[in-house]
Amino acid sequence: MSGRLFKDWISQQTIRGETSSHTRDEWTDVKKAVEQALPFYESISEIISLGLAGPLRRRAIRRLETRRNDWVLDSGTGPGVSSRMLLDDGFEKVIGLDPSLILLGSTKNRLSDGFYPVRGVAENLPFRNGSMAGAITCFSLRDVRDREASVAEFARVVREGGRLEIVDVGKPDSPFFQRLISLYIVLVMPIVAKFFIRGRARGNPFRMIVPTFHRLSTNQNLTLLAEREFGSSRLHEFLLGGLVIVEATQTSFSRP
Ligand SMILES: C[S@@+](CC[C@H](N)C(=O)[O-])C[C@H]1O[C@@H](n2cnc3c(N)ncnc32)[C@H](O)[C@@H]1O
Repeated sequence: MSGRLFKDWISQQTIRGETSSHTRDEWTDVKKAVEQALPFYESISEIISLGLAGPLRRRAIRRLETRRNDWVLDSGTGPGVSSRMLLDDGFEKVIGLDPSLILLGSTKNRLSDGFYPVRGVAENLPFRNGSMAGAITCFSLRDVRDREASVAEFARVVREGGRLEIVDVGKPDSPFFQRLISLYIVLVMPIVAKFFIRGRARGNPFRMIVPTFHRLSTNQNLTLLAEREFGSSRLHEFLLGGLVIVEATQTSFSRP
């Protein structure tokens, strides 16, 4: 891997900023829940997203396609679903970033040579300014402890003209739709997930989506945050705003 990719000095301070949304314990629980869900993560995610998780990841990946032979960051790669789709689509150099060594190890074993696992957190990316042609983060931005610091870090590492694609559960701005989505996430989704897990895990790891949903910022606020850091951003809402793609384009890259 090119030596110019990584920062010369990697801070030991993994979380910065004061806008943390989870406590460290809550964050550790979220990470453990994904580890626990590993064997059935993709199939259940597909069911609880009403069949949209896969198509939305693919749609976001298509928007990065001009960058196929350059470094692309998949932040929160976890079980590796989005990284696998990037490789299947012809991307040659996919950096899969995740704090979980368990998830990174399992994903590295299953994916081909173009996958480069890196342990780290989005809030403090161990990469040089402008070293990435693009970045994607699927169903992971809601899990970070500091959303603002993470988006600022994505903007630091994505070079001019590059894009960040955020695919995630959304929180609609309209109070009525927000209530509807909240009812689905809090009441319906855990029952559906539990039913399809069919006793393969103790408890229900997908319950962790509930507290992370409560802490989400609204779809418009996330889009404004991306615009502030990147210079330009667009919001695409699906299922009444319960799922989103926020696409940010780097138009304000100035740091050497
Ligand atoms: C629900 S999984 C998403 C997996 C995958 N990207 C997908 O397409 O489904 C969320 C992942 O985000 C990771 N994560 C949690 N906190 C993070 C952080 N601060 N920075 C980067 N990744 C984080 C978790 O370890 C987990 O693997």
